[in-house]
Amino acid sequence: MRDRWSSQLLFVLAATGAAVGLGNVWKFPYIAGENGGGAFVLVYLGAIALVGMPVLIAEVLIGRLGDRNIVDCLSRLSQATRTHRLWRAVGWLGMIAPFVILSMYSVVGGWALTYVGYAATGKLDAPAGDAAGYFGNLFGELVASPGELAAWHTLFMCLTVWIVAGGVRGGLERLVRWLMPCFFLLLVGVVSYGALTTDTFARAARFLLSPNFDALTVGSVVTAIGHAFFTLSVGAGAMLAYGSYLPRKVRVVQACTTIAVLDTLVALLAGLAIFPLVFAHGLEPSAGPGLVFTTLPIAFAQMPAGQAAGLVFFALLSIAALTSSPSLLEPIAQTLSERGGLPKRRAAVAVALLVWAAGIVQVFALSGRFDLDLFGRNLFDLSDHLASNILLPLGGVAFALFAAWMIPRDKAIGGLGSAGAGFHRLWRFAAGYVAPAGVAIVLLTGLF
Ligand code: PHE
Repeated sequence: MRDRWSSQLLFVLAATGAAVGLGNVWKFPYIAGENGGGAFVLVYLGAIALVGMPVLIAEVLIGRLGDRNIVDCLSRLSQATRTHRLWRAVGWLGMIAPFVILSMYSVVGGWALTYVGYAATGKLDAPAGDAAGYFGNLFGELVASPGELAAWHTLFMCLTVWIVAGGVRGGLERLVRWLMPCFFLLLVGVVSYGALTTDTFARAARFLLSPNFDALTVGSVVTAIGHAFFTLSVGAGAMLAYGSYLPRKVRVVQACTTIAVLDTLVALLAGLAIFPLVFAHGLEPSAGPGLVFTTLPIAFAQMPAGQAAGLVFFALLSIAALTSSPSLLEPIAQTLSERGGLPKRRAAVAVALLVWAAGIVQVFALSGRFDLDLFGRNLFDLSDHLASNILLPLGGVAFALFAAWMIPRDKAIGGLGSAGAGFHRLWRFAAGYVAPAGVAIVLLTGLF
């Protein structure tokens, strides 16, 4: 008997946990900041609705109907066709994306844990005067010290493997049952803190919500589409794996809509938590990846109860990361376990060791210990670019095309659960045409 979610609610909670992660709290605010705010957010919302959602539904549907790991799902569902072997190969290739992403995710998750430690031990209390220099140094020193990075990355991987090894009910469900409510409470807390202690909340809302199309470039459109994949966790087989544990009675469309709406809400709330603080202290919203690690602490250092607020914020970031990372380990561990006949626990540990080693390589690349120059980027940036702009869109589009064109109509309608033929037609158009077109834009602009 395969493990199963105990209810639709638990699936939604776990999948929302997978979707809501560093992408929402760390990445979304800084890319929105770099791309000028409002207009970018609008494109991002469009990308979620037109590209991300159809792909999310496709992935969950494949998992549900295939009822196994990625490779077996694709192979089983295409059994009757001549393309059967090709799809099995796609399944194997699909392991690359979660592997690469997890090797970096764990390192950044490690930064989040480090900052919880900093906040708890008073290290986020900058000396009066040069706060910017102080936090720039603090982050710079962290990133440049392989020992410290490796230690936190190791801790993060241990937590991740522990959750996955516990199985669906004993690991994932137990985790999200209390961490997700906790996450939402903390998020509301940080947003309220910004709203109450600054007078820049309205400005932040305007920055995020009122579009200024002058700031929009082709590059921002591509970034928005790529991020739609990353933030919804689609294209890496994560949602397929989670979907494969669905119990019989589930409304896939309703569940996926809830996941996407919650994920979007969290990204916007994270923006509304961060930008009021950034603006109130005259800081730059376009600070890039360092926004939450170097810019935000400057604000906290100058605010009432800033240390406590910082602690809450970085705990929030750590929780977000920890409910997502298992979804990256799961698809690979699940495949190894089911195809290799290994107990899940052992498969999870084996995969985690490999990912851990890849993460160590990332750590050394980041700290400049070996200065790889790959197409003008370091290994870390290259992996990030490769994952968001190439692997996830490619994986996502493969799942979308498969679900739209390889799964017979009646079977798909049955699998979607109470959505009806009208919805199926709409979804198939989006998954079969719109999403691939969106991905083509991303890939082609990436090439040139
Ligand atoms: N969605 C996660 C985040 O926003 C990242 C992720 C991507 C997780 C792909 C699983 C698969 O942080």
